[in-house]
Amino acid sequence: METLRIDRDAELPGLVTITLNRPDKLNAINQRMHADLQEACRQLADDAEARVVIVTGEGRAFSAGADLGRRGPGVEAAPLAAANAAPSPLLERVRSSSGNRTSAALEGLDQVTIGTVNGLAIGGAVVFLACLDIRIAAESAWFSIPEVALDIPLTWNALPRLMRELGPARTKELVMTCDRFSSEDALRWGFLNYRVPDAELLPAARSLAQKLLEKDPVSLALTKSTCNALAESMVPANVTHADRDYLMLARLLTQDRNRS
Ligand code: COA
Repeated sequence: METLRIDRDAELPGLVTITLNRPDKLNAINQRMHADLQEACRQLADDAEARVVIVTGEGRAFSAGADLGRRGPGVEAAPLAAANAAPSPLLERVRSSSGNRTSAALEGLDQVTIGTVNGLAIGGAVVFLACLDIRIAAESAWFSIPEVALDIPLTWNALPRLMRELGPARTKELVMTCDRFSSEDALRWGFLNYRVPDAELLPAARSLAQKLLEKDPVSLALTKSTCNALAESMVPANVTHADRDYLMLARLLTQDRNRS
């Protein structure tokens, strides 16, 4: 796939590794990556051999979050489609739901998922991680949820999931101050299961995968199903049903501002 590498582990049958693969853009999540991740999740839904999935990033980042477009970091919001294209509001509304759909696809995987954080994880990348079961980070990794500072609505069903994983007080602090936090903080706050020296990141994720693969496959799958059902019940869909509309509105307002 254009923005992902998907590897079946030769030594650990049942382990699949998804690597976000736009290293020159710090694995920023563009529409292509959303489509690729959704397709990868669809394929995994039919894959009874795959039992554990590692998600990681190529290069020096897990992911720098939503792709901010041609102007790179520092812009206020992702632009609409290319300036000379004629974007339709409905097309934009569909695109605005990509983050919610990709997050739901990751969270709904039947396999046990291990988020493996190299470098940094920003915004939507932290939401993706909140959708995964177990999280390991390199000691040097850092995180931030900068949407408020960038004047971008925090969508992708982020808040209920972050509150579920980090608790309400910490979530509110992080999404409102937009402060960076270290892997040490993330471990202390329970967002990470493990923090390991940088060079040991992938070996640690594989060793955890091996431990999971040694379990009875059906018992593991049933337990994961119950975890999924519980996790879903903790993320009320009615709270974030308007996510795509907030995002679309923000983009239209940005486009208007840029025109004037
Ligand atoms: N969207 C699109 N491109 C991005 C990106 C993003 N979110 N984050 C980084 N990139 C691109 C940069 O434009 C640059 O591309 P270029 O070499 O073609 O110019 C490349 O990735 C490397 O980024 P750079 O800024 O040079 O690396 P750095 O080490 O100096 O800084 C960050 C790293 C993460 C601090 C900085 O890239 C950044 O602030 N990114 C934006 C993060 C963000 O706000 N995400 C949105 C969350 S809603």
